Amino acid sequence: MSENQSVILDHVDVPIVLAPMAGGPSTPELTAAVAEAGGFGQLAAGYLSAADTAARITATRAATGKPFGVNLFVPGPATPPADLADYLAELGADHELGDPRFDTDDWAAKLDLLVADPVAAVSFTFGCPSATDVARLRAAGSEVWVTVTSVAEARVAADAGADVLIAQGAEAGGHRATFTDRPEDDATDPLGLLALLQLLTAATDLPLVATGGLATGAGIAAALAAGATAAQLGTVFLRCPEAGTHQVHRAAVAVDTPTMLTRAFTGRRARGLRNRFLVEHTATAPTGYPEIHYATAPLRAAARAASNPEEVNLWAGQTHALAPELPAGELVATLAAATKTALEAALSRRIQHC
Ligand SMILES: Cc1cc2nc3c(=O)[nH]c(=O)nc-3n(C[C@H](O)[C@H](O)[C@H](O)COP(=O)(O)O)c2cc1C
Repeated sequence: MSENQSVILDHVDVPIVLAPMAGGPSTPELTAAVAEAGGFGQLAAGYLSAADTAARITATRAATGKPFGVNLFVPGPATPPADLADYLAELGADHELGDPRFDTDDWAAKLDLLVADPVAAVSFTFGCPSATDVARLRAAGSEVWVTVTSVAEARVAADAGADVLIAQGAEAGGHRATFTDRPEDDATDPLGLLALLQLLTAATDLPLVATGGLATGAGIAAALAAGATAAQLGTVFLRCPEAGTHQVHRAAVAVDTPTMLTRAFTGRRARGLRNRFLVEHTATAPTGYPEIHYATAPLRAAARAASNPEEVNLWAGQTHALAPELPAGELVATLAAATKTALEAALSRRIQHC
């Protein structure tokens, strides 16, 4: 793999990246607030049409003159209906279900939009875009950031021409970024962030953005010491007033509840707060994204409307209980100062023991 640099990461005032958070939390206001505070904001485009993505880009540009990124879901294969039938019957026994359809999340139109009207960075999860698509985005002036969970995925992303690797550890809230999500993938444990960073540092010269379970200056300092150029934080921003987090989710994140990986809500492994739906259906849920996502959409919407946290996908990372209720700009400033303090403290400890 070749040596590389990120102009974006070389120019941020603080090494903090806002994770894209599709499904509500990500807003133009949150993205702009992080950018204005000296971090790098990202806008989630997952679940949005190309037209809605364009509207959010326009709103973000109206709120900040700083650069920001847009995140896309890489589409995977459709799942044969027969593989979903048992699970849909299990859920359908006591829930209203949606149509378990397949789509590409408006992939081609969103790529075209970002090539025609580029942003500073386009980041990806659930896979790696083709070398051709990477080249189109880079020719338009964007950096291409690919989320990886292993050295094998990092090699694919580097070969496709990625500028930056987002290293997602097992601690991360929300969906696993894995390029595939098959039952055989469960045979191995997901790598924790520190293990992943050390492995990637040995395997690639590409800049690394560390993500997963980082909620304090000490956590960010650890990621930087392990070789990351910046830290990407998601869950810690969920309670910010600028975030579009639903009230049920916002309240649940503040409570010290264990998290678990599950396919129960969407057919793709994701980390969320343990609740009744997750406990009852994790063992039987098949891989089948986005079909299961669409099938469970009505029951999740009904639970949110009824303020019932037991049937909502409460995505959260392992350190969710540390998320403060603070304006995003204040949170970035607090985290940046705490990171510096933690790095200095670690260095002084090391020197004292030499
Ligand atoms: C509510 C929520 C939604 C998320 N949506 C996305 C997304 O749209 N795209 C993406 O690449 N990652 C998404 N993620 C994962 C984040 O990019 C990141 O890996 C994760 O937030 C890091 O762990 P943390 O939540 O402990 O900070 C989401 C995470 C959460 C908590």
